[in-house]
Amino acid sequence: MEARDKKGIRRRCIKLLKEAGCDESVVEHCIAVAELALEIALQYNSVDEKLVFEGALLHDIGRARSHGVDHGFVGGEIAKELGLEEKVVRIIQRHVGAGITAEEAEKVGLPPVNFVPETIEEKIVACADNLIDGTKRTKIEDAIEDLKDKLGDAHPSVKRMKMLHEEVMGR
Ligand SMILES: [Fe+2]
Repeated sequence: MEARDKKGIRRRCIKLLKEAGCDESVVEHCIAVAELALEIALQYNSVDEKLVFEGALLHDIGRARSHGVDHGFVGGEIAKELGLEEKVVRIIQRHVGAGITAEEAEKVGLPPVNFVPETIEEKIVACADNLIDGTKRTKIEDAIEDLKDKLGDAHPSVKRMKMLHEEVMGR
């Protein structure tokens, strides 16, 4: 991706985040996640870098309306309202933790739809988000501990987060 393209995507996405009503801290977090996601994407040969960068910049747009477990779903709805492409919508919907299965989604009051990342671009954004706390790089072990505190050691998403990290970074 050329520097000019990167700048353009960045400017356009930050504008969308602010217009949606995201706080400055959310915008800063999204920028940090996008830089790391792009760094990871560059390790791969056939990844759509622009899609990763755009999806990562917008991944938390749902935080304009909710900071709950539903913020990925809500973000997807905002992205649809904005007419963003389906690939970007799915990155946003599927970025929470290492994704939410249809069964888990139903339990937390979301539509019973699979929100688990499937494409490499979706996986990279979810993985990068787990490695950024605020704007700082964090260890996956810390992200896993936080998740355990929230959901309990036995929750399937704990193992899923570990596996996603290994799949994306273990190369
Ligand atoms: Fe998020």
